[in-house]
Amino acid sequence: MKLTAPVARRSPSVTSQLGLSDRIFSTAADRGLAASIETGLDDVTTSLLGELVFADEIANVTSRYLLNAGGKRVRPMLALLTAHLGDGTVPDVIRAATAIEITHLASLYHDDVMDDADKRRGVPSAQVVWGNSIAILAGDLLFSRANQLMGRLGERAVRLQGDTFERLVLGQLHETVGPADDQDPIDHYIQVLADKTGSLIAAAAQSGIIFSNAPAEFEEPVVLFGERIGVAFQLIDDVLDLSPQPQETGKVPGTDLRAGVATLPLLRLRERAATDARAVDLVARLEADVMNSKGATTEAADSAISALREHDVTTQTLAEAHGWARDAVDALKPLPQGSVKKALTRFAETIVERSS
Ligand code: IPE
Ligand code: IPE
Ligand code: MG
Ligand code: MG
Repeated sequence: MKLTAPVARRSPSVTSQLGLSDRIFSTAADRGLAASIETGLDDVTTSLLGELVFADEIANVTSRYLLNAGGKRVRPMLALLTAHLGDGTVPDVIRAATAIEITHLASLYHDDVMDDADKRRGVPSAQVVWGNSIAILAGDLLFSRANQLMGRLGERAVRLQGDTFERLVLGQLHETVGPADDQDPIDHYIQVLADKTGSLIAAAAQSGIIFSNAPAEFEEPVVLFGERIGVAFQLIDDVLDLSPQPQETGKVPGTDLRAGVATLPLLRLRERAATDARAVDLVARLEADVMNSKGATTEAADSAISALREHDVTTQTLAEAHGWARDAVDALKPLPQGSVKKALTRFAETIVERSS
């Protein structure tokens, strides 16, 4: 049997991931766009592998570990798509998409430490393999490389990177500290999602415009689109956190809740608890058996998570995610009709239909 080292994998067909193989996506221009995105994503993968080389062996191994484990490349895909409103996937667009994916990758190393997550991209998370300090430092090395790469693109790129990273960190910080006493927990939560996830997805969409020399008036609509699909994407992530299929998600079910993060299904359940005794009971079970049980994977925890998954509040969360995706599509109104707008619309729909 031939054993091969893992390479930076991504899912096989981006056109089907994006819904670009659908029948509605059938003109020659549509097919040309899909082919160009495929090629662009291959270029991003090559560029990721080229940028993430460290002379130091431990730095090299740890920083490439999660890259080699896979990833959907949602953010580069979006940058490549919006770049087709300008000159297309020119080298600076590939560089910016690479830097954004490296920033995302770095944030995953840190997030798994904070969430005490056992698995990421189907493999043991970095701190499970090397411990917290090395996982945090590997994330820091990746952030440095992302910044160096943005530096090569000039002052505008450096500002975009700095502003985006600050928002991402504030999102993670506000998730960690929770809402203030006078703050509505759901408003607080949606702001956390926009900051920790929407900011980077919006920056991906925006960088496609900036670095392809597309008309500046397209920046605002694609940023709004990115922010809103970011919230939709993260709400789906919250529902997937309850999924009983870890082989699809590559994560351990209930990781968010076990880490004490009250995701939207639980926040909606707490709301219902004001008038519904069964909701009160389930909230109590989730708080005792999942959130305050130091990450335990007990039968009681599994049963409370599956009760939440089956509860109407999870259907409500899915419906809210679809609402955010529809609002994202509304933001695209100022863009010209054509393949890019069609693909972005399909992209928003695909994101809320995802199961991994
Ligand atoms: C995971 O993002 C972290 C979130 C912000 C939800 P992705 O779901 O894009 O992760 P990969 O890159 O495909 O692993
Ligand atoms: C991840 O959020 C957000 C960032 C990495 C900035 P989550 O903690 O909800 O995402 P997963 O479920 O671990 O991917
Ligand atoms: Mg996490
Ligand atoms: Mg987290």
